[in-house]
Amino acid sequence: MSSSAAALAWRRTLRDALLRGSAWRGAAPARYASTASASGAPAEAADAAAPKKVPPPPRKGRLLTGAMIALAIGGGAYVSTADEGKFCGWLFKSTELVNPLFALLDAEFAHSLAVKAASHGFVPREKRPDPPVLGLEVWGRKFANPIGLAAGFDKNAEAVEGLLGMGFGFVEVGSVTPLPQEEIPSLNFQIKGAWCCNQPIGFNSEGIVVVAKRLGAQHGKRKMEETSSSMPPSTSDIKQGGKAGPGILGVNLGKNKTSEDAAADYVQGVHTLSQYADYLVINISSPNTPGLRKLQGRKQLKDLVKKVQAARDEMQWAEDGPPPLLVKIAPDLSKQDLEDIAAVALALRLDGLGKIPLIGCGGVSSGEDAYKKIRSGATLVQLYTALAYGGPVLIPRIKAELAECLERDGFKSVQEAVGADFR
Ligand SMILES: Cc1cc2nc3c(=O)[nH]c(=O)nc-3n(C[C@H](O)[C@H](O)[C@H](O)COP(=O)(O)O)c2cc1C
Repeated sequence: MSSSAAALAWRRTLRDALLRGSAWRGAAPARYASTASASGAPAEAADAAAPKKVPPPPRKGRLLTGAMIALAIGGGAYVSTADEGKFCGWLFKSTELVNPLFALLDAEFAHSLAVKAASHGFVPREKRPDPPVLGLEVWGRKFANPIGLAAGFDKNAEAVEGLLGMGFGFVEVGSVTPLPQEEIPSLNFQIKGAWCCNQPIGFNSEGIVVVAKRLGAQHGKRKMEETSSSMPPSTSDIKQGGKAGPGILGVNLGKNKTSEDAAADYVQGVHTLSQYADYLVINISSPNTPGLRKLQGRKQLKDLVKKVQAARDEMQWAEDGPPPLLVKIAPDLSKQDLEDIAAVALALRLDGLGKIPLIGCGGVSSGEDAYKKIRSGATLVQLYTALAYGGPVLIPRIKAELAECLERDGFKSVQEAVGADFR
């Protein structure tokens, strides 16, 4: 039905309802009565011409309708007059009530429920601007804040928009392996948390083809929205946000458990997914993929990174160039291992290690934790487990606490505080 036909039909329905409404009040329209008497027609004919009386709706129905209308008007008035920021804060806070219920569910089910909720937008959306002190520029991109969601929560890029909408400065999806790969049941590892309990550790992945389709569809939708919006193009050299809209999207690449050629797996990931990524990560940190951590050795790492960099660089890129390449390393390496990795990073100009921006990940559950990582040299910080326990309300809380820490110590920006403890 066209919109004008629908409007007409709607108007007719409304008119009929109004007419019925006057019949309920027992008053036939004056026009009918006066016409009948003026023409001298018999009373029966006048009765037949008059509209049929429709019985009034039951009293309960009227009360319910009245209550619903009052509720809609009252709710609308509240939402329109309430401070949007306060309302948004209240929404985040209200997730604290739901959190304990997640902990009662089966861990995997709770996790997939949380991902589904985020993918359908059933999560609070941050409408309040981040404190200006948290804004920073990294890799030629503007981050609204340095707090990101670590890989492993949204392994298959199902909920990027919802997660960024909750107020993360960036979200890392993956690890994505070339071929679909099931979980490793013997290594199931549970965080009996709240908002999202847990899922088995290891690279359980739907594979690069499924993830590329998903990211491609999201990318296309955003491009359409950008084209149809009347926003003037940015004149600044620094891009506001990234390929995923206002937030930044990292794609974390993994290797299949049974694959003999690790470099070939990462190269496949680069070829298929890098066009959607604001940054790429080679993940060699997982303890559950046989032989993966061996790739952290000096020679192995150098060979691997060279191949992956070459694959990325030989692709066609628009003027903003290829996405930066990072390597995710394990948290428990020896001093010698770390020195080897730093040497490779500097020699190959890796983007997330050495004298170049680092992402600090692990053990962050407060603004103070994030601040410590920044003072130790991290430019960006990620978390996962704390979100599982704390739920969405943790995100604005950490950002507010971090802003407080920076201001308390007289830093005007995050960048000023990076590495402050080692100067
Ligand atoms: C259940 C679970 C699954 C994870 N999956 C991945 C993964 O697929 N790829 C990856 O690079 N890191 C993965 N991680 C590691 C996290 O990204 C992060 O490095 C780690 O949890 C430390 O941060 P946290 O202390 O804030 O949890 C996973 C972590 C957990 C708890």
